[in-house]
Amino acid sequence: MSSKRILLIIGGGIAAYKSLELIRTLAKRGISSRCILTKGGAEFVTPLSVSALSGDKCYSDLFSLDDEAEMGHIELSRSADLVVVCPATADLLAKASGGHANDLASTTLMATDKPVLMVPAMNVRMWEHAATARNVATLRADGVDVMEPDTGAMACGEFGPGRLPEVEVIADRVEASLARLTGPKPLEGRHVLLTAGPTREPMDPVRYLSNHSSGKQGYAIAGALADLGARVTLVSGPVSLAPPRGVDLVQVETARQMMAACEAALPADVFVSVAAVADWRPATRADRKLKLKEEGKGPPTLSLSENPDILATISRMTEGRPELVIGFAAETDSVEENAALKRERKGCDWIVANDVSGDVMGGSDNEIALVTATGVERWPRMGKLLVARQLAERVADYFVDSGKPRVAAE
Ligand code: C5P
Repeated sequence: MSSKRILLIIGGGIAAYKSLELIRTLAKRGISSRCILTKGGAEFVTPLSVSALSGDKCYSDLFSLDDEAEMGHIELSRSADLVVVCPATADLLAKASGGHANDLASTTLMATDKPVLMVPAMNVRMWEHAATARNVATLRADGVDVMEPDTGAMACGEFGPGRLPEVEVIADRVEASLARLTGPKPLEGRHVLLTAGPTREPMDPVRYLSNHSSGKQGYAIAGALADLGARVTLVSGPVSLAPPRGVDLVQVETARQMMAACEAALPADVFVSVAAVADWRPATRADRKLKLKEEGKGPPTLSLSENPDILATISRMTEGRPELVIGFAAETDSVEENAALKRERKGCDWIVANDVSGDVMGGSDNEIALVTATGVERWPRMGKLLVARQLAERVADYFVDSGKPRVAAE
């Protein structure tokens, strides 16, 4: 049995028969498949042929006592390095994007902690339907790798996009994904310290100053760096997100707590400052709730004190400064010029600049420019998860190119 294994979910479409060929092609490349056959899938291929080709039991029933006793659906969802859905029907795409869990395939997709690759195949009109386009966009934003179908003549007699890609092409994609997942991790032994989310600066026991940061971009970057093998300490302000897999989370509220948590987490090889740290805090925090109007006076006057600049402080450390310090610049005008100036002012190595005049804060997409000592690189608009993956790759490339020894590994 090979050490690389996929969990293959076979949906109910005419292309299901090609999944048998995929199992064989992958086996020749040393990749074994454990299979789930949906009810629809079983109308096109039999559990017996799936089982014979995969050399393993074929799972199909969420409520089967036999299946559950042998391997529970949660365990099944995590028993492989990668989950592949092939063919991914319009129904499976819809269920997965909506978070349904009413059969073994959809439950497994909800329960898995492994990356998912979906290979759609359906009638051209179904592929081009607004609902399918929406579901594919949602899945991609959630980090699912959805392949583009091929264009050509279909089994139903129509012509257009919706055909299952060639089996060899699917196998190439599976192999490449597995190589990335199970291959050597470029950031292994590196410690990355990252801040994310907003800070809250209390005024009295019930009120605070804060901002609209959702933490999405920072959490995605933390996860992408951990996927590349880094030990990640994520110092986060209050957000409503689950921490990414394999990341050490330190929760804070105020800028001063965030500064202290960062200092406590050093040394690190990399510092990534994604948090939208409040620049000021109320100079005093009242012990009791401030009254709208004090007797005989107008509304209270708010006086502010400056918060520590965490990015500038860490960038300018004379001893033990992380080798690579990355700041973020949320700008509404002259984005690149202001970002370049900010890079100098803060003393960091790279600035990730973005235009926040639209819905970037809280939204799922981002359009950034990477400002380094050697110039500005504009990236096209893409999902925050993709921005995170590409930035993590750039961090990994930096260490490969610099050839510096690992200093902060535990
Ligand atoms: O100066 P500005 O707040 O626009 O700079 C943004 C960058 O500085 C971000 O990387 C942010 O995380 C960081 N920052 C910080 N501490 C502050 C203010 C900003 O680390 N008090």
